[in-house]
Amino acid sequence: MTKLIRPVELAHNKPIIALLALVTHWVLHNGEWDNAFHVFLGIWTLAFNGIAAGEYMYDAQVKTVGDVVQIAATAAFIYFGTLTTSILLHRGFFHRLRKIPGPFFARFSKFYGVYAGVLPGFQYFKWSEKLQQEYETDVIRTGPREVTIYCADAIPLIHGPMSRCRKGPWYSGSSHIGGSSTQTTRDKEEHKRRRKAWDHAFNAKALREYEPRLNRHALALMERLKDQAKQPSVRITNWANFYSFDVMGDVGFSRSFGMVEKGEEADVIKLLHESMSPLSIFGHITWGLNLATRTEAGAKALIEHIDWTSNVLKERKKVTPKENDIFSWLLDPNDDKITPEMNADSRLLVVAGSDTTAATLGWISYELCKNPDIQAKLRRAIDAIEPKKAHLDVDDVAKCAFLDGVINEALRLHPAVPSGVQRETPPEGITLPNGTYIPGHIIIWMPIHCIQRDPRYFQQPLKFLPERWTNERPDAIIDKLAFMPFSTGVYNCVGQKLAMMELRSVTANMIRLFEMSFAEGEDGSTIEHKTRDCFTTNVGKLDVRLTPRYKT
Ligand code: HEM
Repeated sequence: MTKLIRPVELAHNKPIIALLALVTHWVLHNGEWDNAFHVFLGIWTLAFNGIAAGEYMYDAQVKTVGDVVQIAATAAFIYFGTLTTSILLHRGFFHRLRKIPGPFFARFSKFYGVYAGVLPGFQYFKWSEKLQQEYETDVIRTGPREVTIYCADAIPLIHGPMSRCRKGPWYSGSSHIGGSSTQTTRDKEEHKRRRKAWDHAFNAKALREYEPRLNRHALALMERLKDQAKQPSVRITNWANFYSFDVMGDVGFSRSFGMVEKGEEADVIKLLHESMSPLSIFGHITWGLNLATRTEAGAKALIEHIDWTSNVLKERKKVTPKENDIFSWLLDPNDDKITPEMNADSRLLVVAGSDTTAATLGWISYELCKNPDIQAKLRRAIDAIEPKKAHLDVDDVAKCAFLDGVINEALRLHPAVPSGVQRETPPEGITLPNGTYIPGHIIIWMPIHCIQRDPRYFQQPLKFLPERWTNERPDAIIDKLAFMPFSTGVYNCVGQKLAMMELRSVTANMIRLFEMSFAEGEDGSTIEHKTRDCFTTNVGKLDVRLTPRYKT
C-alpha cells in the first residue's frame, strides 16, 4: 500500500495514472465545472510539477533534468490521453443525448459550434437556422450536453412561469468579477426577491413618471435629425445608440450623458460593445469565458465597463433626483452601502436598457427603407394622430395599431437577443410535447430568430407584414406563443413596456418629420450581414437619407 501511494512510484505506474484520469472524467461528468475550470488547471499544474520535483529529489535512477521532463511528460501524456479519449468516447457514443440528431462533431465539443456557427460571420443564430433546415427536426444536438429546440409548444415547459428549468452556467461565466445581477443570478429564490424591486421600477405608475423624460429625449433627437437631414447621409444606427444611451442614463440614473447633443460615438458605447464582444465566441464555451475573464487581457474591457457602471451608480447614490428614476426603486435611501449586487444591476441596466432598443430602432429603419409602401402607410396612420401638435408625446402614440405592428414585425424578424437565452433541464429531465425526452442537466437554447421565422407559426414568415398584428391580417399569426423577443415567464424582460414606449415615440416622430430611404451607396447589406450576435446584438451600420416633410 505504502508503495502504491509513493509519488515516485506513481509517476511510473501507467495503470494508476490512467485510472486517475478516469476518476477525473467521472468527477467532471458528475458536476458543473464550467466556472471552476481554473481549479482543475491549478491541480494539474501542481500535480505534474510535484511529480517532476519528486522524481528529481527521490528517484535514484533519475540523473538529469531531461530524465525528469521525460517522466513527467510521459505521465501527462497517459493522463491527458486517457482523459481525452474517455471524454470523447463517452460524448460521441455513450452519452444520454446520443440518439438526438445533430452535426457529428458537435457532440464532441462546443468548439465545433464556434468554428461552424460563430466564426463565419459572428451570427450564430444563422447557423441554428441552417441546422434546422438541414435536419428538419425540432431537437438538434448542438454540443456535448446541449440541444437546440425549435418548437414553440415547448416554450411554456422551458421558459414559462411554471418551468422547472433553470438558468444555465452561461449566466455565472463572469460573476467572479462583478458579482451576479438580477438577470445573471441562477438562484430562483434570489431572482424572485430581487426582481420585485425591478417590477416596482417598471409598474404603470413608475412608467408614467418616466414619460416626460422620454418626450424630452425624443424631441432632442428629432431636433438633431433635422440638422442631420441637411446631409445626404445620416448614420441612423449611431443616432439610435445615442438616443437609447441618453434615455437609459436619464431614466435609469438621472444622469445626462448628452450623447444626442454631442452627436458622436462616446468611448463608453465602444467600451460597452467591447465588454460584450467576448460573448460572441465565449458565450458558447462557458469555461472559456470564465478562464478568459480570469486573465488580465480577457477581462480588461469587462472590468473597465464594470468600473464605469459602478461609478455611475456611485454618483447616482449621492443625489436625490427630483423625478423618480429606476434606481429610486432599487436603492435603499437609508443605507449608504452599495453592494456588488447593486453594481451588477447597474451594469445590467446599462446593457439591457440601451443596446437592445438601439438595435431595434436600427432594424425598424432598415425595414421601413426596404418597404416604402409600409412606410407610407405608417405615415398616414401617424399623421392622423394629433395633427396639430408639433411633437407627438409617448401618450399620443400609445394606441396606434399599425405603429405597433411595424415595431412587432421588426422585433419578430430581428430580435435583439437572436440566439435566445440559455436554460438547463431539471435533474429529472423534461419530456417535450412532441414526446422527446431531454435528460437532466442538459443545456437548452431556443433560438428566437428561428422560432419567429418559422412558417408553422407565421404565414409568409419572411415577409415584413405589420398587418398581421392589426385586425387586417390576424390570420397571418398562426401561433402567438412563438413571438418572444422579450423572452417569457419569470425571467422575461422587465423593461419591455419602457422599450415599447421608446420605440413608438422615436419611430412615430421620425416618420412624421421625414421620408426615409437608403442613402446613396447603402443597400442594407451591412446591417444584414455585419450585425454581431454577442448575446445582445451589435448592429452593423445603416446610412439613410432623411427628406424633410416640413418646410425648410
Ligand atoms: C427592444 C428592446 C428590448 C429587448 C428585445 C429586450 C429583451 C430582453 C430579453 C430577451 C431578456 C431575457 C434575458 C434572459 O433571460 O437572460 C431581457 C431581460 C431584461 N431586460 Fe430587456 N429587452 C429590451 C429592452 C429593455 C430595456 C429598455 C430595459 C430597461 C431599461 C430592459 C431591462 C431588462 C432587464 C433588467 C432584464 C432582466 C430581467 C430578469 O432577469 O428578471 N430591457 N430583455
